[in-house]
Amino acid sequence: MDKVQDTINLLKMYNQEHVIKLMGKLNESQKRELIEQINKIDFHQLKELYDNTKKEIEIKENKIEPLPYLDKKKLSKEQKEEFDKLGKEVIENGQYAVVTMAGGQGTRLGHSGPKGTFKLDVYGKGKYLFEILAENLKEANQKYGTVIPWYIMTSKQNNDETIEFMEKHNYFGYDKNSVRFFAQSELPLVDTEGKLLIGKDMKIKEASDGNGGTYSSLRASGCLAEMKERGIKWVFIGGVDNALLKMADITLLGMAIKQNVQIASKSIVKANPHERVGVFGKMNGHPKVIEYSEMPEKMAEELDENGELKYGEAHIMCNLYTIEAIEKISKEPLIYHSAFKKNSYIDENGKEIIPSEPNAFKFESFIFDAFEFFDDIAILRGKREEDFAPVKNRTEEDSPRTAKELYEKFWNR
Ligand code: UTP
Repeated sequence: MDKVQDTINLLKMYNQEHVIKLMGKLNESQKRELIEQINKIDFHQLKELYDNTKKEIEIKENKIEPLPYLDKKKLSKEQKEEFDKLGKEVIENGQYAVVTMAGGQGTRLGHSGPKGTFKLDVYGKGKYLFEILAENLKEANQKYGTVIPWYIMTSKQNNDETIEFMEKHNYFGYDKNSVRFFAQSELPLVDTEGKLLIGKDMKIKEASDGNGGTYSSLRASGCLAEMKERGIKWVFIGGVDNALLKMADITLLGMAIKQNVQIASKSIVKANPHERVGVFGKMNGHPKVIEYSEMPEKMAEELDENGELKYGEAHIMCNLYTIEAIEKISKEPLIYHSAFKKNSYIDENGKEIIPSEPNAFKFESFIFDAFEFFDDIAILRGKREEDFAPVKNRTEEDSPRTAKELYEKFWNR
């Protein structure tokens, strides 16, 4: 049987007849491309993901406990020195790599272009988010006499634009040979009936599968193998949109080494018990970022013996892993979460429909869902004013205005 017939059968099996109709309207090369795309889709997985959207979320009896952490500001002099020495050695020996997750769509910010190309209005002239990150890494390189390999995760949609931008700006003075881009994987979008959406380009509409895709994409792209060849032992993974992100914190690294853990994370204290952020805790014996919605109200307000929030360490996408941890996670499937969003599509008559209400499910995995594969995590409490200036929303909270203020305040010190 030929490939066209196989594809038709596959589409029929999964109730995607509207795509068969579309195939009939395409020219030969369009048809070939579409067939190729269809044959890469894991329809079984997609059906499962869609079916899950209809299931009631099971509220399981979870055992939640606090996770120990160390406060960077409260470390003894000896402790800090010991951590710093351990961390410094790893970076100086060229065993440290950094990954920037820049595959998001940045929908809330509404910037047309990859988020890293957003210019934060600081010090009159402004700085691009990628520029801020490059500066942070250049500073570390200078301090530790090395060049840290920098892996930038893009999406299929923004990959070319991201590379062009970095080329145009000469990588903001970073050693170009130490920068590597890799595009993250995607999953198709489906409507409320589980049907695939067709895009303007006459292909199935797909979107990045969330920042949890970082691990498997590192593997699939060959970056993980390359890191191993380079002798990398520790990998930092952070977001693109925190203007105060410290990507080479030797105290965090040294603490992870000292505590003999495979993963570590920098936290900041929750602004108040009801701030809508995920916090660290142990769930059923494993480290986890417990989402705001998963935490009973009473628990969110609970205080420890020092009068501090028992569950107050917020996750800020500032995570560190041994190379073995990345290897392990990259082979394990993460849970997918579904988000119901507005997505334009082409209808059966070839007309573009721009919905005014959410109409399709996007499936995403989250970077922190991998923590539960481990027994332990080292948490270092940083400081909001020093470590966290997120650029998420167009206005108000976590916006370019608040990030500018935090960034300038930090650098004016
Ligand atoms: P967010 O979840 O805040 O998403 O990403 P976003 O794309 O920046 O913004 P919204 O939600 O669409 O408004 C946190 C970090 O994870 C990356 C983002 O680029 C950011 O650094 N990310 C997110 C990816 O790399 N890939 C994804 O699929 C999603």
